[in-house]
Amino acid sequence: MGVHYEHDHFFHLAKKEGYRARSVYKLKEIQKKFKPLRPGMRVVDLGAAPGSWTQYLAEVVGRQGKVVAVDLHTMTGGLPRQVEVVKGDAFKMTAEELESLAGGTIDGVYSDMAPKTSGMKQVDHLRSVALCERAMYLADRVLPLGGTLVVKIFQGADLSGYRSALGSRYQKVRLFKPKSSRRDSVEIFLVAESFKGAPEEAEHPPLPDTSLYDPMAD
Ligand SMILES: C[S@@+](CC[C@H](N)C(=O)[O-])C[C@H]1O[C@@H](n2cnc3c(N)ncnc32)[C@H](O)[C@@H]1O
Repeated sequence: MGVHYEHDHFFHLAKKEGYRARSVYKLKEIQKKFKPLRPGMRVVDLGAAPGSWTQYLAEVVGRQGKVVAVDLHTMTGGLPRQVEVVKGDAFKMTAEELESLAGGTIDGVYSDMAPKTSGMKQVDHLRSVALCERAMYLADRVLPLGGTLVVKIFQGADLSGYRSALGSRYQKVRLFKPKSSRRDSVEIFLVAESFKGAPEEAEHPPLPDTSLYDPMAD
């Protein structure tokens, strides 16, 4: 059974400020603390629906920048013209597709992807790690040296291994739990800055059975 939450401060704030979800405040906190985003940047937003990160990314990168917003679910319109919306599965999208949609070098990959939760902590953790590995795989192929990867991960046994894999690719990797992330939520963010390149031996992660991620759900 899912947890029922009362609508909290951030839910009401998002409504008032015209954002599509309360999740936007997590990204705003990341920006406030680490400042990875700048006007003119091209970024990829993985797991973008309903679109509050997309709104904020578009706000910060501005008209000279680009946001490629990818989700399994359809996103409703009404987004600024610097946003390219793609309905698709991150496990099937290729680096070449992302680059062509971005129309130039991609400065950052932002993943708020989350699996459909089963209620079984270990299963949800492993599904979340698989999504994070995919984000890292795509980032390995699209980011220039110095690029940034931000991912949401559900905490569990494989977090430290994933963090080390980031450590071999980025100069700085930091864990961050935004205040706007519910205290009882297992989610936490990794902010990986200054991409130094993927290790030579980096393997292609096997493509998981995407039915786990309910790709047909809408
Ligand atoms: C927490 S929501 C994202 C909220 C969004 N960042 C916002 O601010 O509105 C997680 C999203 O990840 C998406 N997702 C999960 N697996 C995915 C996959 N394999 N490819 C693309 N999107 C995926 C889900 O469809 C869901 O919309």
